[in-house]
Amino acid sequence: MPAASPYAFNPTVTDCLVEKTKGAVPVAAMDKAALKALKKSDKPLFRWAEAAGFTAGAGQVLLVPSDKGGLERVLFGLGDDPAPFLPGKLATALPAGTYALESGFADPRMAVLAFCLGSYRFERYRKQAKDGPRLVCPDGVDLAEVRRIAAGAALARDLVNTPANDMGPQELEDAARGVAARHKARVKVIRGDALLKQNFPMIHAVGRASPREPRLIDITWGKASAPKVTLVGKGIVFDTGGLDLKPSSNMRLMKKDMGGAANMLGLAHMIMDAGLDVRLRVLIPSAENAVSGNAFRPSDILQSRKGITVEVGNTDAEGRLVLADALALADEEGPEIIVDLATLTGAARVALGPDLPAVFCHDDLLSAELMAAGAAENDPVWRLPLYGPYARLLDSKVADICNISGGGFGGAITAALFMEKFVEKTKIWLHGDIFAWRPSAEPGRPEGGEAHAIRALFRVLSSRYAVKS
Ligand code: BES
Ligand code: MG
Ligand code: ZN
Repeated sequence: MPAASPYAFNPTVTDCLVEKTKGAVPVAAMDKAALKALKKSDKPLFRWAEAAGFTAGAGQVLLVPSDKGGLERVLFGLGDDPAPFLPGKLATALPAGTYALESGFADPRMAVLAFCLGSYRFERYRKQAKDGPRLVCPDGVDLAEVRRIAAGAALARDLVNTPANDMGPQELEDAARGVAARHKARVKVIRGDALLKQNFPMIHAVGRASPREPRLIDITWGKASAPKVTLVGKGIVFDTGGLDLKPSSNMRLMKKDMGGAANMLGLAHMIMDAGLDVRLRVLIPSAENAVSGNAFRPSDILQSRKGITVEVGNTDAEGRLVLADALALADEEGPEIIVDLATLTGAARVALGPDLPAVFCHDDLLSAELMAAGAAENDPVWRLPLYGPYARLLDSKVADICNISGGGFGGAITAALFMEKFVEKTKIWLHGDIFAWRPSAEPGRPEGGEAHAIRALFRVLSSRYAVKS
């Protein structure tokens, strides 16, 4: 028996979903037409709805008392054109208790998923007194599947929400070990000066100004003979910008700069929990982009693992530097697919807003699959081009390449093109530039750290590498 791991895997989930129980309060979803029909079929209920101002508007909740004064049922308004995650509203609007979807939910799996994702709360520093509602998993919805997705998303959110004082490279490593231990995966970590000895100069350069040692976390799982899928996640635990210090408004959210790593750990949990037929590898370059006398500087020229020399045009373009060394390592064994996720550029947010991760990939088939999966899972992504001619914007006069482009035009594209130079052998490389944050709550989507693109990716990987029975 291997010794129990000291590292915990305990994302804030998901006892919000229960198996069939007696006495669950039924919830009926209705649009305006269904409400109108009540006038004939159930006059007293119609009157109660009217008296309480329930018009079946999107997300409206009507509690219906029983004769004995208990809660008999709930009506849930769908409005005119319900968003797929609208039922997530139930997680925040219902009082504590156990409920069951009764009728009117067009896509019960999506409703249950939205409910689970909407039940998430970040309570590490401030417990909420009140219990939340629970939902009976309806027939035909795969409880284990929903749980694994919700757990992966909750893990990503927990890690992003935890501030950098409690989420340094070591704590991120601990979390990675927790996920790995749960699925009996192997973990190797290269820390501090060992990064130099083992040729990860750019991870070291970005992280060396912090007293918290930078590192490369390397998880492997699955049969060596299975198709190799490698996930790479940006793990900058806090991005001050370095010597090119960010202004305070831009720095405010930078605890989330390990959002790529957090999301990849969430996705890795889903893949391993589902037992997909892959040899999975997860690489997380983690560092704190800090300011100190030994910080790397603008104009420094860095060696990279791949041998390409990189001029530092801006120390705030640090994500692509740590990712480049990790991608070079990933590429060395020539896996079938490399996917990286990173909170890489403000430019991607300017282009697509907070909800839509930008994805870059030369492979049209995988791109199309991912866009379709994103739509189906209500985890949308949008493809942007790896437009080759823009690569010249990264030309340096003194090194092989510069880490920023002169004018700043097409910033998300040039960042992607920078990283492309470090992937050579691998057939398919897909890069996602994510926000990993939700500025304000919506049904099924609480404010704060967010899982972006991993439900879509899980769907694609699940169909490509389904468990063989
Ligand atoms: N972590 C940031 C990118 C970021 C900023 C993501 C805000 C989401 C919201 C990244 O390290 C960064 O600072 N990028 C710079 C690059 C620039 C210096 C070329 C940016 O986008 O401004
Ligand atoms: Mg930066
Ligand atoms: Zn960053």
